[in-house]
Amino acid sequence: MLNLKESGTLKILDKVKSLQSKGIDVIQLDVGEPDFDTPRNIVEAAHRAMLEGFTHYTPSAGIPELRDAVAEKLRSENGLDVRRENVLITPGSKQALFYAVMALVEEGEEVIVPTPAWPSYVEMVTVAGGTVREIPAKDGFSPDIEGIKSAVNERTKLMILNSPNNPTGYVYTKEELGALAEIASDSRIYVLSDEIYEKMLYEGEFRSFGSFPGVDDLVITVNGFSKTYAMTGWRIGYAAGPRDVIAAMNKLQQHSASCPASFVQKAALAALSPETPVRPMIEEFRRRRDFLCSELNRMGAFKVLPPKGAFYLFPDISGTGIESVELCNLLLEEGHVSTTPGEAFGGFSGHIRLSYANSMERLRAAADRIRGVLEKHGLA
Ligand SMILES: Cc1ncc(COP(=O)(O)O)c(C=O)c1O
Repeated sequence: MLNLKESGTLKILDKVKSLQSKGIDVIQLDVGEPDFDTPRNIVEAAHRAMLEGFTHYTPSAGIPELRDAVAEKLRSENGLDVRRENVLITPGSKQALFYAVMALVEEGEEVIVPTPAWPSYVEMVTVAGGTVREIPAKDGFSPDIEGIKSAVNERTKLMILNSPNNPTGYVYTKEELGALAEIASDSRIYVLSDEIYEKMLYEGEFRSFGSFPGVDDLVITVNGFSKTYAMTGWRIGYAAGPRDVIAAMNKLQQHSASCPASFVQKAALAALSPETPVRPMIEEFRRRRDFLCSELNRMGAFKVLPPKGAFYLFPDISGTGIESVELCNLLLEEGHVSTTPGEAFGGFSGHIRLSYANSMERLRAAADRIRGVLEKHGLA
């Protein structure tokens, strides 16, 4: 526990809350959650389930109809060869990732994590007693395939991939995914494919890592409802993978969460139905991405290309002449705009992360405030 770091992103949130408690209007660009309401058909399904008394424990792996619906989604949309037994429903995809790491990683084993990466992966591996091998991305955030290949050794157990990526928005190409699948299959290492931003894609087609040849007994695909259906607070996600790994993860669930909330599972089932409006949200994210990208580039001190996925920008801030922690502090304390230092994602102190999951009006105001801080300190 002493080796475990506090969540850097939640630490920022504490600072934000403290400013807000003094009545200060903080524009939050640090949070990774859609600002939209959960679609109505989903809320109604939960409401109906509660009124009908569907408020008790469920089977620990999830209700059969939801496991089946997830398996069907993964077969038809993602090309994965999975059935009910390959699927575990969890209270959030974070929990699924945690179970997978706990189930697979033994004391002293190594886990490859291409960076920049979501900070929780490293901490999960630490809890399991494993060691992380961070492999920094190349220019433009494409994964360093050769670097990953040469990091593999006899202690390597797992590789954790996340595309579309948090924090960069980078989407792995088909060639990159294919090369990584080859490495995994040649060296027989497990791959945890975090596909939570699957639908936040502004160009091209999404490819699931598990659909590449030679890896179907090695891949645990994790996805969830938080981002696609604006359901962050509902806490519902899932994992799909080899039966023995899923069974091990289910044992962890039996002895910790017991099961995901019953009526939330009914809501998730409704979310997967074709009537749920997802497209309009994605189109709105695209508009916001383009807007914030061009605003930041116009400031002179930031450099960023529009990423193909997720809802984050991870600009190069070297033009400011200061590092990410200092810049984020200035932006928060003086501009009242919260962002996340690149430091938190594997030591990228020359970048900050801004989430554009906020209204255009707030993004416009945030851009003005950021510009104001840069100008005041001669950083632009
Ligand atoms: C890359 C990544 N994986 C997983 C999660 C966890 O999502 P959930 O709300 O489903 O636990 C997040 C949330 O921020 C994320 O950014």
